[in-house]
Amino acid sequence: MNIEANPPTAIPFSVNDAIVGLLENTSDEVRSLVSGMVEEEAESLTMEFYEVMLGDPSAAQFLAHDVVSERLQRTMQEWLRHLFVGLTPARVGFLVARETEVGRVHARIKLPLSLMQAGTRTLCIGMEVRLHAREVPAELALRAEIYLCRLMYLAEGIMLNAYIQDVRKGASAQADYRHAVMTHDTLLERERQRAVLSEWASEVLFSAHSPAQLRRVPKLADSEFGMWFKHKARVLFDGAPDTEIVTEVVEQIDTVLIPKLASGELSPPEGHEVLAELRRQLELVRYLVGDLFDRLTSASSAKDAATGLLSRRHLPTVLEQTIADHAPRHLPFAVLLARVDSPRGDVIDVDSRSAFLHQIAAIFLESVRSSDHLFRYGDDEFLIIAVETDEARAKDLAEAIRKKVLSHHFKLRQNTATHVTVSIGLAVHDGHPDYLQLIRRGELACVLAAVEGGNRLAHA
Ligand code: HEM
Repeated sequence: MNIEANPPTAIPFSVNDAIVGLLENTSDEVRSLVSGMVEEEAESLTMEFYEVMLGDPSAAQFLAHDVVSERLQRTMQEWLRHLFVGLTPARVGFLVARETEVGRVHARIKLPLSLMQAGTRTLCIGMEVRLHAREVPAELALRAEIYLCRLMYLAEGIMLNAYIQDVRKGASAQADYRHAVMTHDTLLERERQRAVLSEWASEVLFSAHSPAQLRRVPKLADSEFGMWFKHKARVLFDGAPDTEIVTEVVEQIDTVLIPKLASGELSPPEGHEVLAELRRQLELVRYLVGDLFDRLTSASSAKDAATGLLSRRHLPTVLEQTIADHAPRHLPFAVLLARVDSPRGDVIDVDSRSAFLHQIAAIFLESVRSSDHLFRYGDDEFLIIAVETDEARAKDLAEAIRKKVLSHHFKLRQNTATHVTVSIGLAVHDGHPDYLQLIRRGELACVLAAVEGGNRLAHA
């Protein structure tokens, strides 16, 4: 009984060594019993894992979507086979890399640790039951069980370690992103939001005496201000309690005051009273948002220096937040990745590059809404996260940008004018909780658009 008999004298500190040690100290008989069982049962173990997880609402929400279930059913079986069937000392490095990746995926989708551990327990128990059901001597089954649990425990440790490191990195990236957004044209943003809120208020007040006209005004929550508040303010103001108050006041305006005015059933004094209340509530929103802006302190900017856009290192934070905002309400959103087709050194010389980047960034900026997120993604690449956007709207947006770039005369050094084109890859979020999947789809589509000749869009 090699493995249980080992005295704890030389405990390997590196996980690679621990796994190699476990493999070397385990008899071929035990290992082939386990590998045979997993080979035969990988599918049923995965089904069982799914059944158990779907029985718990907190776990089921991670698995409910079709794309997840299709992928995970397959990857879970592969995972079991990597660990228990194909593992040799020479392949331990690959195994560690793979477990690290899985831990990172779980961190990105914010899978609670308690669920990951419940997953390990489910798989372990499932394998133990299947081992003991085999017609082998009880002692052999017991040794196999110990080997299996130890290997599982080591694999879980690697996933856990990667998970924790990624969560830590994510927390500091989020703080960094807030810094970047805070210092980015805060004044401009403040003025813009003040203006769009006033615009909405004027439209409502102007229509206040015509219920039919009032019903055509969009809800405050769906107005440009409302969208900005929903999608940017929470991160920008770091969940300050006043953001909740603004959200409640906006809801009160949309669901109580405006419907009252639009009902056409109010007497003139009642109408005046509701209008006065609406003005007070709008004033409160203006005051609270102004106050939230006031409390933003200045901090060092983490922007892309050449364009003033957000740099791509903030992308994970924003995409995670966007998925968390949209998925529970089943709202669509899209990623558009645009790559400049032809302006490398041959067309745009080094001295003109900064002027070029400013002009193209301006085209993107004026094409998106203030609730969308715009990033400099690569040298000549820009990425848009278009919030609350379905495929049709995303295509319109991409097409509008493509045409604007095509028709723009870029004024460069010595007043030379240059034309460039862009290829745009478009991916609508398909429900997968891991943001990297979405970026990869956008990248793939962008490459497709470029290889098909550029100056076009492709859809993932
Ligand atoms: C020991 C426990 C677990 C193992 C071995 C495991 C294994 C895996 C593997 C191999 C992947 C694919 C990673 C990649 O694409 O690179 C993955 C992703 C994922 N896991 Fe887990 N998982 C475990 C627990 C859980 C639990 C408990 C849940 C949810 C209740 C969960 C939900 C997911 C989801 C949603 C994904 C992304 C879907 C995908 O792309 O495959 N996992 N997991």
